Amino acid sequence: MTTPPEHLIPAATQDAWRPKYHYSPARNWMNDPNGLVYFDGEYHLYYQYNPKGDDWGHISWGHAVSTDLVSWQELPVAIPATERVMAFSGSVVVDHENRGGFAPAGADTPAMIAFFTGFDPETKIQAQHLAVSLDRGRSYAPYAGNPVLDIGSTEFRDPKVFWHSPTQRWVMLVVVALQQQVWFYTSDNLVDWTRVSTFGPAGSADKNIWEVPELFELAVDGDASHKRWVLVVSVNHGSLWGGSGVQYFIGDFDGTRFVADWNGCEGPDIAQLTLWADHGRDFYAPIMFANTPDRRVLWMGWCSNWEYARQLPTSPWRGQQSAVRELSLTATPKGLRLRQRMAAEMLALIDEAPLFSAGATTASQVAAGLAQARITDRQLMVRLRVPRAGLVAPIGVELFKSGQESVQAGFDPARNSFFIDRRCQVPRFKGQCERHDAQRLSGADEVELEVWVDGSLVEVLADDGTVSLTDLVYADPQVLALGLFHGAEATIQSLRVHDVRIKLSPADVPDEPIDIGFERREAGR
Ligand code: FRU
Repeated sequence: MTTPPEHLIPAATQDAWRPKYHYSPARNWMNDPNGLVYFDGEYHLYYQYNPKGDDWGHISWGHAVSTDLVSWQELPVAIPATERVMAFSGSVVVDHENRGGFAPAGADTPAMIAFFTGFDPETKIQAQHLAVSLDRGRSYAPYAGNPVLDIGSTEFRDPKVFWHSPTQRWVMLVVVALQQQVWFYTSDNLVDWTRVSTFGPAGSADKNIWEVPELFELAVDGDASHKRWVLVVSVNHGSLWGGSGVQYFIGDFDGTRFVADWNGCEGPDIAQLTLWADHGRDFYAPIMFANTPDRRVLWMGWCSNWEYARQLPTSPWRGQQSAVRELSLTATPKGLRLRQRMAAEMLALIDEAPLFSAGATTASQVAAGLAQARITDRQLMVRLRVPRAGLVAPIGVELFKSGQESVQAGFDPARNSFFIDRRCQVPRFKGQCERHDAQRLSGADEVELEVWVDGSLVEVLADDGTVSLTDLVYADPQVLALGLFHGAEATIQSLRVHDVRIKLSPADVPDEPIDIGFERREAGR
């Protein structure tokens, strides 16, 4: 059976698939989040956006703002593509001390500086540009001296800039994509950059190109005296399940050089040690929010995969971002690992009174109770706790259950893995009919599964965030229900199903981006 072209998919289906508490633009194409930053009471989400259609092209920085990290208001394009410069991925810094000299003398608000890769569609050259906002991130004027960093390469992109306080310098990471390297630069004034080190190739190497580097420091299990740095690199083509994915390295950074903790491994063993931030197919190019008031490390990724992003059956939008997750490091029996928990703002969304609650009883009783409850909502958070001892068969929740079909999110004791199984009768895109597994890292007595469902998006954060799986699912919008599956009788410690209160509605945005005079106005110093 083939999927009808997306314009024949009814609007009601599209509406059922559209995430309601995750961000998607009202219309058009979106990929990576860009320049995530907090400033003056607002979180800014910029993103790779095509203002002219629902396929990749005319790449500009789309824009949305939020005061609570959950309800986003779409705003006009912040950095539009011009004839000779598409605005590829990058980051934003708030220049509090005016070290770049871009804020006019006596200005009472600091400049926000966006760093992005300017891609010239004619020459294909990728070089690093900056643009300046003096209006709380609404519009950016390109720097008159652009590009600020150009090595004449066609594969040099995605600048991540941040202030490194111990060395009192700005640091920039840029990927040299085909060489699988991150190049590190430093600067005193955001304009003149000196190359200081190189990292890579490392980790998963096959056929990959490197994209969207990210770097931050995290405490291990909340211990401020034990911190490590995490270097994140999104890789495309040869990730965990093929296509794109996110790998990370834990190590040290002294303001100049990142050195990974290899635990004594070298050569092929390094590939064995590749750490993946997410084990589903649909989490890519995540970056953190800069300048957060409480110093939390919060990130968000694009929920899609380059292998099929352009074929996804949604309309009039194509692309969605993950929820905001708070990061930390935790010691597991296998070593240090990234822990991702939903941001507190997300947890505040769930209705306290559960739609369904059961506990300390058998799986068959819970399954029967859940079937009777007939939960058909598409915005849900489900938390399941099961004692690990005595588990002999897979157990978990069935989502979007209709007839014989469902998507399963569960735990498989034989493989000691969490999984999302999105195999289906009607594949909506190549790659949908798969199961994705993630090894359990925790040795805790209780297996804990937290599943966030939103229209066509499933995010699993298991065992208190030590395992994360993100997958897109385009299930039958008509009939659906929530169930519990269990291959053998088991004890359920607790199952709670919560409605996730919807705050989002796609904002009204102008059809055409507002002309903010990007080409005419230039920023000087
Ligand atoms: C990652 C990426 C970046 C690039 C952007 C182009 O998904 O390929 O490397 O800057 O998307 O839209």
